[in-house]
Formats: sequence, C-alpha cells, structure tokens
Amino acid sequence: MTQPWSPDSWRALPIQQQPVYPDAKRLDDVERTLASFPPLVFAGEARELRRQFAEVTHGRAFLLQGGDCAESFAEFSAGKIRDTFKVLLQMAVVMTFAAGCPVVKVGRMAGQFAKPRSSGEEIQDGVTLPAYRGDIVNGITFDEANRVPDPQRLLQAYHQATATLNLLRAFAQGGFADLHQVHKWNLDFIANSALAERYHQLADRIDETLAFMRACGLESAPQLKETSFFTAHEALLLNYEEAFVRRDSLTGDWYDCSAHMLWIGDRTRQPDGAHVEFLRGVNNPIGVKVGPTTSTEDLIRLIDILNPENDPGRLNLIVRMGANKVGDHLPRLIQAVQKEGRLVLWSSDPMHGNTIKASSGYKTRDFASVLSEVREFFQVHQAEGTYAGGIHIEMTGQNVTECIGGARPITEAGLCDRYHTHCDPRLNADQSLELAFMIAETLKQVRR
Ligand code: PEP
Ligand code: CO
Repeated sequence: MTQPWSPDSWRALPIQQQPVYPDAKRLDDVERTLASFPPLVFAGEARELRRQFAEVTHGRAFLLQGGDCAESFAEFSAGKIRDTFKVLLQMAVVMTFAAGCPVVKVGRMAGQFAKPRSSGEEIQDGVTLPAYRGDIVNGITFDEANRVPDPQRLLQAYHQATATLNLLRAFAQGGFADLHQVHKWNLDFIANSALAERYHQLADRIDETLAFMRACGLESAPQLKETSFFTAHEALLLNYEEAFVRRDSLTGDWYDCSAHMLWIGDRTRQPDGAHVEFLRGVNNPIGVKVGPTTSTEDLIRLIDILNPENDPGRLNLIVRMGANKVGDHLPRLIQAVQKEGRLVLWSSDPMHGNTIKASSGYKTRDFASVLSEVREFFQVHQAEGTYAGGIHIEMTGQNVTECIGGARPITEAGLCDRYHTHCDPRLNADQSLELAFMIAETLKQVRR
C-alpha cells in the first residue's frame, strides 16, 4: 500500500547528504520566505518537457543535457550563461542537422547549486571542517566561518536562478537562437581549430538549406527563429525544493516549480529514502542516476515508485558507469526493464564514472574515457535492441582546462592554466563540440 504523499512527507524518512544548519529557526524563516516567492517555472512547461521526453523514449528525438557541475555565486555573469547556452545550441544543431534528429535541450542551469560529497568533512593540514556542499549551502574557501551552512544562501541561489532563467528565456526566444545566426554561435577561442572548420562547413550547409526554404516560400516557421530550452538540477536540498512545490491551477497536480526537470543523484537514490519520496509526488519529468552499484531489484523498485503509470515521458535513467564498465552493468539493467515492459528514457552521463586524480593533484577526467563511455552506451543499446536516448554532461562555454585530452589536447601539466570549476571538471567548448560530432555520426548510423 502506498502511503499518502504531501510536499513535506519526505521529512519523516531517512535522508542523506543534507547540511546541518546550526540555527533551525533561521532556516525555517528562510523556507517560509522562499515559499512566498514566485516559482521559477510554470507547470505547463514541465508537462511540455514530459511530452518531449516521451518522444525521446519512443526513439523520435535525442536528449542533450549539460551545464556546470555546480553553479557558483562568484562565476555568475551574463557572458558565462550566454557562452554555455551557445555551446549547447551548437551541439544541438550538429546533432539535429548531421543526424536528422530533433534534440531536446536541457541545461544543468538556474538551480544546479547543491553538491553531494563523498565525505561530510574535509581535512587540510590537520584542520577538519564541514565539506563544501555548493554555494547554496556554504562557501568553498577553507575557513571555519565560511564552511558553516548559512540559510541566507538559499535566497541568493533563488535570485541567481531567477536571473539566469530570465536570460535563458530571452536567448531562446528573443532572436539569439535563430537558425540564421548559426555561424555566430561559435566561440572566438575555437575559431582557428579543425573543429571550428568542421562546424562552419555544417553551418554553411544550414545556410544553404535556409536559402532554399526561403526561395520555396517556406521560411516563416517559428521553429527556425526560436528554440525551446529547459532547466534541470539535482533535487538534493529538499528544504529548497519543498518551497517550490505548487498545485497546478489547470490540472490540480503537484509540481516542483524550481526547474522543469529534477533528478536524484547516485548517492541519494535509496528507494525508501527521503529523495525518492519527495520526487514521487511531483509531476515533473524526473531523472535518476544509475551507477555500477545499482541492483536490478532496486532499479525496478525505483521505477515502480517513480513511474507507477508507466508514462513514457516521466522517467530518465541517467547511466554513469565509467568507461569499460558499461558492458558489465548496463545489459542486466536494460534486460530487467525490458522484461517488465517499463518505458524509460535512457541517457548516458559519461562524466561521473570517469573522475581521476592527476599527478599534479587536480581532479580531472580523460576526454578519451568520456568518448569511450558514450560509445559503449550506444553499443550496448544496439545489442539489446533499445534506444540510446541522450547524454548528460558537465560542460561550459568557457575556455577552461579541466579535462585532459581532446582535439586540441589538454595535458596534465596544462590543467592548472584555467581550472575554475567549483566541483567536478567540465568539458570545455572544444571538447563538447567534438563529442557532439561523434554522437551525430553514431546517431546517424543508429537511425539508419
Ligand atoms: C552530478 O551530476 O553532479 C553528480 C553528483 O552525479 P552523481 O550523482 O551521478 O554522482
Ligand atoms: Co558533478
């Protein structure tokens, strides 16, 4: 028997990865303030994303999800938002045009602040402090005052998310995403690479196609002038999420209006835990990270709880195994899901299973492992006769040096040049574009 759900029913259950706030009264006040603020998204938009997810689940589109590992207060600027948006547009256009496949675009943006950590504490030079859990919780600088979880940060995160989403909406609908601008999405610092050359060739073909359409009198379609773009983040900090739960005035259903889509991380996906409880009751499209330790039994239980009606647009399983491990784990999971007749959107997160420590001490990822994991993901789906529906990546439009490898290779020694991430290493624009071309080639074959 399922227990009744309410926006706060998660509070009665065991919960992982939460900060300990020293002042419960202040937290309570902030939660109340947040709940009185306007939500970030409208339920109808989350429903539209569910409709698009269903298209992906049925093999008629591809999901591209990307953005920072952790958004930060210090790195908040229009230029950074614009550049990440540009790279996502470039990646999407490469896949759409080269593979003839519609792409659903979702940013890890406008709310991706809270981070699960492998340890609750950090030790430096014999000093132990609470771990950094993202700017929405505490500060990254290693000093005592800064690491105390501060509820005020929840409000700052809300305001930053609001401004970010506002700009994203303007870019998506105000002319920036017009396909006639396709050449201009390329970032200056990749201007002289082989990759840029390849991108401009594709952009030339798009220009020709548009000119042809114009000549045929087919140019007025709004789809050419604007795009739809959705937001998502890990629903980790449930105090924050609960404040945005609203009953949709049109359908009477509950939605978490802090983002269009929310996902559950690999560390908080316990079927009887608080995170699963919270997300089962909201009607947004939901993701669940699936790692090497996910048992088939737990996966089916999670699907039962999160998608009891077997809706094709509801559930995205985000597979993050690590290169060379996809073949060991994914077939059994796919087979169990198929045997039970469950409809899910499978996507690949080729980042979180491939984190390594460089000899210089930097946390990094080898771009070759990222490419390998994506290839393995496609191969396993092909062998099982199922659809590899998307990718979920940590990337940025900034010219960072955080992941080693790529067509303009970043070496271990070069990591220190522009290593800016607040948590995990991200693909830069070059690496992201290279990945998009690889996926476009693969998708083209799969879809043929
Ligand atoms: C993340 O997506 O940033 C993350 C922490 O991933 P995972 O839960 O898969 O480790
Ligand atoms: Co991460």
